[in-house]
Amino acid sequence: MDTHEFRRLGHDLIEWIAAYREGIEGYPVMSPAQPGDISRQLPRTPPLKPEGLEAILGDLDRIVMSGITHWNHPGFFAYFPSNSSLSSVLADLVCAGLGSQGMSWQTSPAATEVEDVVMDWLRQMLGLSEAFTGVIQDTASTATFCALLCARERTSAFSQNRGGLQAEAVPLMVYASDQGHSSIPKAALLAGFGKDHLRLIPTDADHALRLDLLEAAIQADLAAGRKPCALVAAIGTTATTAMDPLWAMAVLAQKYGLWLHVDAAMAGTAMICPECRSLWNGVEAADSLVLNPHKWMGTGFDLTAYFVRDPEHLIRVMGTNPSYLHTAQDGEVRNLRDWGIPLGRRFRALKLWFLIRDQGVEGLQARIRRDLANAQWLKEQVDAAPGWERMAPVALQTVCIRHVPDTLRGDEAALKTHNLAIAERINHAGRSYLTPSVLKGQQMIRVSIGAEATERKHVEALWADLQAATLGR
Ligand SMILES: Cc1ncc(COP(=O)(O)O)c(C=O)c1O
Repeated sequence: MDTHEFRRLGHDLIEWIAAYREGIEGYPVMSPAQPGDISRQLPRTPPLKPEGLEAILGDLDRIVMSGITHWNHPGFFAYFPSNSSLSSVLADLVCAGLGSQGMSWQTSPAATEVEDVVMDWLRQMLGLSEAFTGVIQDTASTATFCALLCARERTSAFSQNRGGLQAEAVPLMVYASDQGHSSIPKAALLAGFGKDHLRLIPTDADHALRLDLLEAAIQADLAAGRKPCALVAAIGTTATTAMDPLWAMAVLAQKYGLWLHVDAAMAGTAMICPECRSLWNGVEAADSLVLNPHKWMGTGFDLTAYFVRDPEHLIRVMGTNPSYLHTAQDGEVRNLRDWGIPLGRRFRALKLWFLIRDQGVEGLQARIRRDLANAQWLKEQVDAAPGWERMAPVALQTVCIRHVPDTLRGDEAALKTHNLAIAERINHAGRSYLTPSVLKGQQMIRVSIGAEATERKHVEALWADLQAATLGR
């Protein structure tokens, strides 16, 4: 492809994306595709001769679109939002167009320096002190993995430079709540702690970690000769956005010498609004903290913000220094290859830079407050409606509910079937999309508000549809 054709097709594709966003409400939110529907329409073998991209727009419409679930649809209430603001779409285009690598400062100084500046903007926006330094990772799963590697190396006085965990005299322990995200057990297993050394602590009626059980577990491990190493606090669990008691966990982390990692993947965005910050009281004591601007905030996937108190420790754990990566500026600059797992790094910071400049802190705050108010509105409707139950506090934008008709009360199996049928009716009707989920053995319908396009009228429509769905409509 030459630049003339790129320009022509590029204009067409920008037009295609703009028209898609303008008409997004016309699509069913959840893709109706059945397994194999898309691949069946694609040639089994690659083209031998250049085909040109002329037909690509037609194929996007004809084949690809029926297999897309529309995460930026105003009726998207599933999982957590994955907003891709149009400014961040443009930033991704620039990033791809530049095609530069930011693994070392010298390989693209701007990639490192824009990231430095924009991560410090984000730190200020979240109300975090200067004790934290931020770096971009691909996902929260990777950031949590980095955190547990750092914890392992701190507690074991750099066992990686000796025989690794395999040569440690006593096992190292990791603690999190049983409502923590699956990326926490995954990170613990991948970091070599082993399932036997991961304690998932039960939670209270609000689904927050129980401190008494946490301390009892730590003491039992100490008594048995095991070494407590890391504690992960969930600020906004995935099921219900429950908030672990961070302040008190920080006190325990200090008392027992634990690395404290805060997983605020979703909820972290709310901290742009000062009135939400009491939800993470104690965060200043964290050793590391992760939040996902690629969820609620609006930088298209993938862009995770990872903040640490001790960058030198992170660099010691992650850094490799082969001679072919040495540069003249090594002593003066940040080489971000040493701040995470991959060597190569694309210029992700552009997305955050474009987004913050496009919407401004006040614009982002206004959108978050709109979503918080919409969630409170839905909560009030549910609380006032006979036959509906709320399964968890509404700390932010997720509302967990179920329908309990008198005739089914007490019959968990029947309630499961009934609520799954409600969710299925909503999802198949195409106007909205939500996630049925199980909370401590009880079937629930989880409504996660926060797509950029979702206004009050869409939440009202969902509530009307939910009520109709209880009647089989
Ligand atoms: C609380 C929490 N932590 C971590 C993750 C993992 O995020 P990522 O997809 O960025 O790895 C999620 C994803 O929804 C989450 O809700």
